[in-house]
Amino acid sequence: MNIADMRRDYAQAELDVAHTDPDPIAQFRHWFAEAEQAALAEPNAMTLATADATGKPSARVVLLKGVSDEGFVFFTDFRSRKGRELDENPHAALAFYWPELERQVRVTGTVERLADEASAAYFRSRPVGSQVGAWASHQSAMLEDRALLMARVEELMAEFGDAPIAWPPHWGGYRIVPSEIEFWQGRPSRLHDRILYTRSSSSEHAWRRDRLSP
Ligand SMILES: Cc1cc2nc3c(=O)[nH]c(=O)nc-3n(C[C@H](O)[C@H](O)[C@H](O)COP(=O)(O)O)c2cc1C
Repeated sequence: MNIADMRRDYAQAELDVAHTDPDPIAQFRHWFAEAEQAALAEPNAMTLATADATGKPSARVVLLKGVSDEGFVFFTDFRSRKGRELDENPHAALAFYWPELERQVRVTGTVERLADEASAAYFRSRPVGSQVGAWASHQSAMLEDRALLMARVEELMAEFGDAPIAWPPHWGGYRIVPSEIEFWQGRPSRLHDRILYTRSSSSEHAWRRDRLSP
């Protein structure tokens, strides 16, 4: 099929300010629960956009590993491209797309690293193979050959034996502290519903809600 001819009309649901929670995190939890119930393959997969110090952007998919009033958490290698970019420019954006629900959620905010203890605690909860992987791979660095990576994994497995694997300080969590969160519900004829929450500068916990044009 011609790519230009691919299109789908959205008609499942609607979204109105009156039916959203005044708290965007509560609203996100509500939609996330519906995404889970809809048995999507990976409802916690989200596109993360970062930019370097000059503003040049890059984007990739990562997994949401927690959400709270403080923000949205994911884990990665701090030495990766995204890690380097976040260290020099602590602004980021997220986009979730849940096609079966005809929904998108967008988040923009500033980024902070989790406390070491929180990164270490999550690291310990990961499968052993992933723990070894975090030591074996310097994420985003050039790799001559996959065989070199696999040899490094073997070497480390022999070194660690059955002992618990220590948390690598180059690996851990970032939290996106949101300043804006938008909920998008697809509607017929591209006349979608968009509700934008903006954190009010006067009060840390207050959010305003506005409808945006589709
Ligand atoms: C569904 C999915 C989930 C992913 N989850 C993560 C993740 O949680 N953390 C991570 O570092 N990379 C994750 N990746 C890999 C990233 O997309 C990316 O390849 C990697 O982080 C390197 O990105 P960078 O070079 O821009 O830093 C995931 C990829 C996919 C497709």
